[in-house]
Amino acid sequence: MTYVEFAVNGKKCRVDNRYPRYLSLNAYIRYYLELPGTKAMCHQGVCGSCIVMVHACRPTFGNYETFSVNSCLVLAVSCHGWEITTIEGVGSRRVGYSEVQKRMAANNASQCGYCTPGWVMQLHSLLDKNLTMAELENSFGSNTCRCTGYRPILDTIKSFAVDAPTDMLTDIEELKICNKTKKICERKCSIDSVNSDWSVIKVSSVIEIDYGHEKYIKVYTVDEIFDAIARANDHYMLVDGNTAKGVLPKLFDYPPVLIDISEVSSLKQYEFDQNLILGANISLEDCITIFTNEAKSRDDFGYLEQFRKHLDLVAHIPVRRIASLAGNLMIKHLKPEYQSDIFLLFESVGAIVTIKNCQEELALTLSEFLAHDMSGWLIINFKLPPLSPRYIYKTYKVTPRNQNALAIVNAAFNFKLNKETMLIEEATIVFGNISAHFSHAVATERYLAGRNVFCNEILSEAIRHLEQEIVPVENPPEPSPMTRKKLAIGIFYKFILSIAPPDLYPGRFSSGGTLITRPLSSGMQHYQTDPSLYPLNQPVQKLEGLIQSAGEAEYVNDIPPSRHDVFGAFVLSTVHSGRVDAFDYDILKEPGVIALLTAKDIPGVNSFAFPGIPLQEVEEEILAENEIKFYGQPIGILVAESENLAVIMADKVKVTYKDVPKALPVLTIDEAKKDPDRYKAGESDEEKIIPKGSGPNVRKIIKGKYEIGAQYHYYIEPISCVVIPVDKGLEVYSTAQWMDLVQICVARCLSMKESDVLVKVRRLGGGFGGKLSRNVQVATACAIVARNLNRPCRFILPYGTNITSMGRRVPAQCNYEVGVDDVGKIQYLKAIIIEDDGCTHNEGILSYVAGGFPNCYDSSFFSLQTGRVTTQRPSNTFNRAPGTLEGIAAIEEIMERIAFELKKDPTEVRLANMRAEDNDIPELIEKLKVQADYDKRRAEVDQFNKDNRWMKKGLHIAVMLFPVEYYGNYSAMVSIYRGDATVTVTTGGIEMGQGVNTKAAQVCAYELGISLDLVSVLPSYSFVAANNVFSGSSIVSESVSYAIQRACQTLRDRLAPIKAKLVNPTWLELIQKAGEEQIDLVAEYMMNDKDPNLQDYSAFNVTICEVQLDVLLGRFQINRVDTLEDAGLSANPAVDIGQVEGAYIQGLSYHTFENFVYDKLTGKLLNDRALNYEVYLAKDIPVDYRVYLRYNSKNTKGVLGAKTAGEMGVCTGYGITYALRECINESRKDSGYDLSVYYDFDFPRNTEAILKALDVKLSEFILMP
Ligand SMILES: Cc1cc2nc3c(=O)[nH]c(=O)nc-3n(C[C@H](O)[C@H](O)[C@H](O)COP(=O)(O)OP(=O)(O)OC[C@H]3O[C@@H](n4cnc5c(N)ncnc54)[C@H](O)[C@@H]3O)c2cc1C
Ligand code: FES
Ligand code: FES
Repeated sequence: MTYVEFAVNGKKCRVDNRYPRYLSLNAYIRYYLELPGTKAMCHQGVCGSCIVMVHACRPTFGNYETFSVNSCLVLAVSCHGWEITTIEGVGSRRVGYSEVQKRMAANNASQCGYCTPGWVMQLHSLLDKNLTMAELENSFGSNTCRCTGYRPILDTIKSFAVDAPTDMLTDIEELKICNKTKKICERKCSIDSVNSDWSVIKVSSVIEIDYGHEKYIKVYTVDEIFDAIARANDHYMLVDGNTAKGVLPKLFDYPPVLIDISEVSSLKQYEFDQNLILGANISLEDCITIFTNEAKSRDDFGYLEQFRKHLDLVAHIPVRRIASLAGNLMIKHLKPEYQSDIFLLFESVGAIVTIKNCQEELALTLSEFLAHDMSGWLIINFKLPPLSPRYIYKTYKVTPRNQNALAIVNAAFNFKLNKETMLIEEATIVFGNISAHFSHAVATERYLAGRNVFCNEILSEAIRHLEQEIVPVENPPEPSPMTRKKLAIGIFYKFILSIAPPDLYPGRFSSGGTLITRPLSSGMQHYQTDPSLYPLNQPVQKLEGLIQSAGEAEYVNDIPPSRHDVFGAFVLSTVHSGRVDAFDYDILKEPGVIALLTAKDIPGVNSFAFPGIPLQEVEEEILAENEIKFYGQPIGILVAESENLAVIMADKVKVTYKDVPKALPVLTIDEAKKDPDRYKAGESDEEKIIPKGSGPNVRKIIKGKYEIGAQYHYYIEPISCVVIPVDKGLEVYSTAQWMDLVQICVARCLSMKESDVLVKVRRLGGGFGGKLSRNVQVATACAIVARNLNRPCRFILPYGTNITSMGRRVPAQCNYEVGVDDVGKIQYLKAIIIEDDGCTHNEGILSYVAGGFPNCYDSSFFSLQTGRVTTQRPSNTFNRAPGTLEGIAAIEEIMERIAFELKKDPTEVRLANMRAEDNDIPELIEKLKVQADYDKRRAEVDQFNKDNRWMKKGLHIAVMLFPVEYYGNYSAMVSIYRGDATVTVTTGGIEMGQGVNTKAAQVCAYELGISLDLVSVLPSYSFVAANNVFSGSSIVSESVSYAIQRACQTLRDRLAPIKAKLVNPTWLELIQKAGEEQIDLVAEYMMNDKDPNLQDYSAFNVTICEVQLDVLLGRFQINRVDTLEDAGLSANPAVDIGQVEGAYIQGLSYHTFENFVYDKLTGKLLNDRALNYEVYLAKDIPVDYRVYLRYNSKNTKGVLGAKTAGEMGVCTGYGITYALRECINESRKDSGYDLSVYYDFDFPRNTEAILKALDVKLSEFILMP
């Protein structure tokens, strides 16, 4: 055969050599089948937005199964014989939505909605597996959501569990009979496939697709593999799951011949002789099944239970379903420093690898295998030996987050113990991620053999051996050698504690031998509503909830493709300074490459900024021409026929540079401060705080420095743009929070009239500030291509470019000196906060910093100066609560420091400093303390810390007063249609998940006195919302609501005379009459921040956070969070709960995980892969998460009594720092450190920072003292 065949939603698809060989299933579905519901973000198997469901025969067990895969990793040619179901196939408006889709929407589990189809598909793929709540909750390491904070998603997921309590179930739809199974339809298969004439063809003869110079060969037997290899002249690659490119993209530039071995059944079988013989290409998930079954029934293979648990921490289900053992080990073979979990497990039990070439077969140990040249060789199987029950076997994997992460250090211990003498007869100790050539702790193994480790002398000596032989190499972005070493030794000690007889160590040490186990998560939401106001204040489901859950909601790159489309991708600079000398245009000879555009191809102003309008101070080059400002700056645009090709080819463009200085890049505030040209002081009144005086009772003076870092927005929808030339102008579909800036800059760079540029934004898949101005660079670039070629252009930033080149949250540094009295009340405070603006000063946020800094405190004695520097990083930008977050975090550090120095309760210190006016925080603290049972839990935490040496707990109360300001101008246009009296609203407020459309519809319905279902919200258009400010910070919904209120007032005024003429008319009668009388039924209003009805106000939040820290591993769990938010009379409490939860989780993630690692020599961002910039996943959130919206609260200053909730949660995320500090303090107390020393605790508070701050001494790793 010369093609492959499979089905998508029941329709037969044939892929042959007319399609590119590298075509992913995702691109095939989206661009060829034009099914846009399946999304994509990272293209690395990490985010899960691309998940689809597959029904296919699993070669290992020989049965048909339903499972999920990441369509971004799977090649279209690898899908032969699969029945694939996309989100369109499980439910739709046309045939009815599936129960999963409905419950996702009903639970408000979809905010921006871009991640939602991925969750829905992952859940659908699990429905037939009869999983419990705990099992289901564990099955979503595959999916990331940046908006919701996961709680509502987890609630939805758990409602499908076999043990779900009945109150979790929302209405089950009418039961239907499945055409295929003739049983009750459970919507587990593709809705279309049941009516399809397609059935899976069982072929087992070689498929060969010839692309000219390249080939794809699908084989079914080992002999066929060798035939294909023989024909490939060494230029081949074997492909099974093709998932390795998710972790090592550069090593996987496909050679001319791809040999697909995914259905070579002999490589997928397993059997027992005295060993367990695992076929080389059994999938990791099938291994879990094998290990689960066999561990139970075979005494000598009890260790497989540890293997099973360990594999659960490798990648996630969709990857594990297709990822093979051999594929994993080949990554290790290609990159020996790789922390392969499979290598760790197999090496620790002495597995043997069988490899074969066309002539011979060899049995190798794993280290022999790593040294073996594998060209021409095939891994056939792995032999795992039996281990008698005298062996104690345990493994560990310490990861930056709880799921879907590579190990910081992984370890396996295999000890043969004589239980009578307690002598270790044999010790195997394997560590991963130490260095390329280190796996066994050989010296320690030797030392331990024949010794009893359960005494302090031997244990200490073993640890001394370990310390000497573990020499991790510097390998950024991996954590530092010191961290990895500490961790390795900590794990070893934990293992020893876990197997030592309990009478040999103090009771306080017992938790050291255990791991924190995460119970099933739970959530509670408390809010009040007033039905007399409905639909205002009604917790209605988000308007777009269902279509988002069904993949029907349209985002920028979902606009139907046309055959004229071209795709753009940025060529990035590989130097941090200097200029481009020349581009090598030979790239244009590559098939499918259309153009290479540079700054010279820009007819107008080469800038995507517009100095003079708010936030814009200087021009920013679309393509660097005069001066490169950072490594990774866009310098050219590669235009190609497909998205993937554009990205691949952009990376291959050769560029030479000139005037490149020798100096190292300036990457930090401290470096930049040294250069006066890089520093700019905040000079306006809004950018500083001037003290009104000082207090007389200075008892203590404290000086300190506090730093927080950058944060990538991690919106799941990448920055994207589609530009279509229409007539003489351009239609621009941009992921834009600020249409006005897009319109101005596109017109300006092309020397066009602004009136010829129409910008339209339907919705964003998350923004958080990252699409406020940074997207304009992409929009202008896309427009330049479209104009140059006169063809529609699509520009979708690949993950690496997005995280490297686009600005992030502004890092900040605060230096302070504070004088306090005996109770910690501030008598004077001198602080300076400096922000790192990146390479330009655009989007300066010093006024927000100064606004946030006082928080809820009396700032009469505060002196705050601000300043900002430029560095050689991308120009930073707004990110949820920009500036305010930094200001609040800085003052809260000072409060904590005061409490630390005075040895006082931090909440008491806070209360001593509260401001009197406009401050509800003291009252809210008291309320929440009662609701959260704080006093009792405080005592329990204190006791826990006394009772435990190696586990610690911390409990912290965080407070926030957010100064809410109205700014800018937002338009709303309300149109009533006389045929059926339905209403549309379009506004300048961009829907990006925050629910502005839903609130807009509710306000409109409320103001017109009509039912909510009569109101629809249309996309935002630049000609309606002309000149509107950006949709940023939280004030958009209120501003838009106000504009709608006023527009509705106009309509009511116009309708009043008609109404007066009719007797009790229905809405329809009224509108039809108004239509007849030619009343203008369209009203528009633009609010602006000078309106006296709109007064700034304060929003409040108090959050209590409890964490538990494993001192030996530097890993923590958030046991419980209670958060109380004052949302006023919320327009929609369900939407606001979502904002509170999502923002808070984003704040936690920022403070504890999110980090940028740069190469100090070149300025290159090193962690530019989705797997090494960690954000919170579902199992990182608080185990018990309770949210309360303040009762009986109506904002007298805001719009319709509401208070905004969009940003606030992120500001109290700082609290986790101090909950962790409490844990660390407690451990340092046990270590005997001087408690009056305020030790450094680096940002973010990740495992590395925690271990460094804990600084446990090796001499403490003992048994009975
Ligand atoms: C999101 C994500 C998270 C991950 N997390 C982890 C993790 O936590 N821990 C971890 O250890 N790994 C992790 N991985 C790596 C994962 O385990 C591997 O990608 C996977 O096992 C590779 O299997 P594959 O079948 O897809 O290999 P492929 O990608 O198909 O192939 C990889 C290489 O193996 C070669 N190969 C395959 N079979 C054979 C054979 N029989 N003989 C010789 N060569 C062969 C191929 O030629 C190719 O060079 C992760 C991967 C992803 C995408
Ligand atoms: S996992 Fe496929 S796009 Fe992210
Ligand atoms: S709703 Fe999940 S990323 Fe926006």
